[in-house]
Amino acid sequence: MPAQGNYIKRNNLLQISALELDTFLVFMESEYQFKLKWYNSASAERRLRKTIKNLQLNSLSQLQASLQSGTISFQRFLSEFTVNVTQVFREPESLKDLKNNVLPFFRKELDIKVLLVGSSSGAELATLCIILKENGLLERSKILATDISENILREAYKPKIQKSELIEGHENYLIAGGYRELDHYFLSAGAQAYLDESLLEKVEFKTFDICHSELEDRFDLVICKNVLIYFQYDEQHHLINNLSRHMKDKSFLALGEKESILRLQKLNDVFSLVSGNFNIYRKN
Ligand SMILES: C[S@@+](CC[C@H](N)C(=O)[O-])C[C@H]1O[C@@H](n2cnc3c(N)ncnc32)[C@H](O)[C@@H]1O
Repeated sequence: MPAQGNYIKRNNLLQISALELDTFLVFMESEYQFKLKWYNSASAERRLRKTIKNLQLNSLSQLQASLQSGTISFQRFLSEFTVNVTQVFREPESLKDLKNNVLPFFRKELDIKVLLVGSSSGAELATLCIILKENGLLERSKILATDISENILREAYKPKIQKSELIEGHENYLIAGGYRELDHYFLSAGAQAYLDESLLEKVEFKTFDICHSELEDRFDLVICKNVLIYFQYDEQHHLINNLSRHMKDKSFLALGEKESILRLQKLNDVFSLVSGNFNIYRKN
């Protein structure tokens, strides 16, 4: 492959020059208000390389040109760039903690508003609906399931998992405090299983970028798991501040098991710790 602009290919690894990257970061923000510059640079560069390869392009400059000309849409770019790995009843110990230390606060609430951020293809939404159902809260809840990627969020409209995932999922479901068979909530269709649609009656969907605070509502519980890990540590307080604008006083924030915000001192006055091991916080 010949060298092209700032682009060179060494050892089969597509190289991205500093200039090319800086230009792309500015373009992303000015054109789409997408704060790519806040993402962890090592993982963002890996994802950009993968995106360029999957879209059968040769360089980051070519990707930018394709976006500018409309040959590739921003949403198509996001489908490639974002990491959408998810799993039903992922991080079950932390779900158990949520069930034991947060849900009891909602026992007398008539209108429980839950925001799911970075919900990906729907396994986490299915998990949440099942937990709320088993704790007698689903009928009184309104869930807003969001993701920055429209395409992945569309998959969450009808959450489905591979039947093989039900086996591990069931083990995690029991650890999280489930008390029946997980497949009770799924309808089998060939090698796949779809979440029982009656569990989704209280769910709405919306694209939402955690880098901005653009939602009108305020929530009692915000779940944002395995999203912060893709961002630079120094920028995470912006993201948490954005989320906190959508939280009622005394509401709860559940993050992923690797996403402690305890070291973000700017947030010490905003949140109190509910569960140190599992990164559950309460807004002061
Ligand atoms: C690894 S998945 C986590 C899915 C799910 N929360 C879980 O823990 O299984 C990360 C999700 O975050 C979404 N995401 C990435 N950047 C985002 C942003 N700026 N705002 C909102 N969601 C974002 C991705 O599209 C992806 O679906």
